[in-house]
Amino acid sequence: MLNLRQTEKEFLLPHLMLGGVAVDFTMGNGNDTLWLSEQVGQTGRVYAFDIQPEAVARTAERMKAEAPFENYTLICDSHHRAADYVKAPICVGIFNLGFLPGGDKGITTLRETTLPAVQTALTLLAPKGALLVAVYPGHEEGRLEGELLQELFSSLPQKQYSVACLRIVNAPDCPFFYLIEKNK
Ligand SMILES: C[S@@+](CC[C@H](N)C(=O)[O-])C[C@H]1O[C@@H](n2cnc3c(N)ncnc32)[C@H](O)[C@@H]1O
Repeated sequence: MLNLRQTEKEFLLPHLMLGGVAVDFTMGNGNDTLWLSEQVGQTGRVYAFDIQPEAVARTAERMKAEAPFENYTLICDSHHRAADYVKAPICVGIFNLGFLPGGDKGITTLRETTLPAVQTALTLLAPKGALLVAVYPGHEEGRLEGELLQELFSSLPQKQYSVACLRIVNAPDCPFFYLIEKNK
């Protein structure tokens, strides 16, 4: 069976470059933050956001132990305020929506902040940059986030963006993702 997490990375790799700026919009346990930090290298920068101090603390510990470079900034704030912190165009942004694995399932990403955060991420994208948005429709808010994002992405102008969706069609509750590429 397709490994979606692995596939996500394969789609993002062509957009990542040494020295680039990347954003993990949902830091969680820091898996994506660490991976992005490795990809952009010593001269790059990764900004990572989470509203839960617990997620930021877990990620800080993990990065201290495993990250090869001190090229990251961990921010305890909502991702819809990303433009207050990120001032350079980004080559890659990742949203892994939902709740913190091993944390409080009551604290999840919500449509009211996910929508402005994704819209902000689109404006931050550099030409040829890419955004990966993983949706978890197995819970109600996740399902509704998916519907809202489908509407947003379907309306993006083709001249500026190409949007693909990878979904296991015979497993409707299974996570799926969108890849949004900004054209030149
Ligand atoms: C599925 S987890 C992310 C997993 C993470 N990428 C990893 O590698 O472990 C989703 C995270 O989004 C965070 N979150 C929820 N609302 C948020 C918001 N408005 N801004 C930033 N992060 C948010 C949650 O606290 C949770 O840690």
